[in-house]
Amino acid sequence: MIFDHDVLVIGAGLAGMRSALEAARNGADVAILSKVHPVRSHSNAAQGGINAALGEGDSWESHAFDTVKGSDYLADQDAVELMCEEAPADVIEFEHMGVVFYRDDEGKLGTRAFGGASQARTYFVGDITGQALLMTLYDQILKAGVKVYEEWFATSLYTEDGACRGAVGLESITGELHLLRAKAVVDAAGGCGRLYEPSTNALICTGDGYALAYRAGAPLMDMEMVQYHPTTLAGSGFLMTEAARGEGAYLLNANGDRFMKAYAPNKMELASRDVVSRAEATEIAQGRGVDGNVLLDVRHLGRDVILKKLPQIHEVALDYIGIDMIKEPVPVRPGMHYMMGGVKTDVQGATSVPGLYAAGEVACVSVHGGNRLGANSLLDTIVFGRRSGKAAAAYVRSIERARGGSALLRSEQERLGALLARPYKGETHAKVRLDLATMMDKYVGVYRDEAGLQTALDELKTLRRRYEEVAVGDKGRVFNQALQFVLELGYLLDIGETVIRSALLRKESRGAQSRTDYPERNDAEWLKHILLTRDSSREPRVSYLPVTITRWKPEVRTY
Ligand code: FUM
Repeated sequence: MIFDHDVLVIGAGLAGMRSALEAARNGADVAILSKVHPVRSHSNAAQGGINAALGEGDSWESHAFDTVKGSDYLADQDAVELMCEEAPADVIEFEHMGVVFYRDDEGKLGTRAFGGASQARTYFVGDITGQALLMTLYDQILKAGVKVYEEWFATSLYTEDGACRGAVGLESITGELHLLRAKAVVDAAGGCGRLYEPSTNALICTGDGYALAYRAGAPLMDMEMVQYHPTTLAGSGFLMTEAARGEGAYLLNANGDRFMKAYAPNKMELASRDVVSRAEATEIAQGRGVDGNVLLDVRHLGRDVILKKLPQIHEVALDYIGIDMIKEPVPVRPGMHYMMGGVKTDVQGATSVPGLYAAGEVACVSVHGGNRLGANSLLDTIVFGRRSGKAAAAYVRSIERARGGSALLRSEQERLGALLARPYKGETHAKVRLDLATMMDKYVGVYRDEAGLQTALDELKTLRRRYEEVAVGDKGRVFNQALQFVLELGYLLDIGETVIRSALLRKESRGAQSRTDYPERNDAEWLKHILLTRDSSREPRVSYLPVTITRWKPEVRTY
């Protein structure tokens, strides 16, 4: 079937729903396509909080400087200024929508400290902040009359005369493909954490939005900048929120030393994530780890603080590795958490493809540069979600309804039909995905070098060949998760290649890109963004953009 709307938003996390709400408020007929029910989106997993300079003695300029320094001077400063200036009003708006943020003993909105920040400016709801925002926003989009195509999976964007005019969606419950036509599309499909193993990301974070936009001709920017979170649970990679360190937790090595004093004597455990992750990786590599981990110790915070402010991670540690954090430290290690890079947009969310907007983790505005500060991602989703929704609603006012798309729908039906018919020859999506993700962690992780990255690129080519042999185990139509997993793997392979190629190109160390063969930051040559544009017949096309500097010249970055 064919459905028509003004604005189609792909993804129902915070960026997607905030965008949809704003587009609806601005008069557009809006629909969301989401592969899960909206409140199961990965924003749900965001724990520690959201940053805004709302407190006495704080200023948006200070927040912006911390963000720029955290980014290792790769973020575009005009975009950072705008995000930090608009943050207070956006956070207060969520309070007014019904989010019950933590309040202190005087009844004032309370903050906690977060990494890389010169002030405590993180507003929070226990350690379930993302969940609280997501539930509230879901109420709002229902109230605004936004149509939700839930448990639909986007297989392709639809373009007409070079402009994006919708998407083809696979309806899981029936297995039918449909064309969702729109005058504008907002890509808010979230991150690509499953490119790595382990990762804090949900299994649904498979880079769909990056690949859809890339395949439609939108450049991807800063893809080498992959954030490792310093505290992910041993084994599973579950997020153990930075809020623990914000509340005063220690990181210890096997000797019981707070090793951060050797790496970041001023900020200690609350240095930027790239700095703490490298410190942990070094401790582990030099034999001061504990079975490949370091220890996160919250015991001195006491039972009340742990149960009141960190209840979720307390429960996760107990359930998954049987450790009661009130009594024992918990083993953690750096794990893939977030992509700073993504679909290049301007501050209205517009990409270079007319009619295609992007917001949230999938987008690169760029406000995070080489390293995102904790609690700036929720902020990014709501500021640029709102902005992209407003811009898309304005854009569609002068756009005619699309008329075509049947040919694309037919060719997608044939493509998926051929995939379903492929015979089983021993290769499974699960094996290829695990090999891809462990390979990325090994060669394109916290530390990188030319030889490892070249190996990664060679292995990725082999994985692509193996992918061509992967058969779909389930030949049925209804809730065919196996088919979706195979399509997701195709997205991950495309994105993995852009991460490796960008990391090979950037011959310096900056933020999350730590090249042991180029250990210094090199502003003379590399104060610029790397953009990759897909060329289906050859390797991706490489281009560069200078970093926008407004008021903060790059300085030596220490914590
Ligand atoms: O550690 C955390 O709570 C993660 C927050 C974030 O990535 O912004």
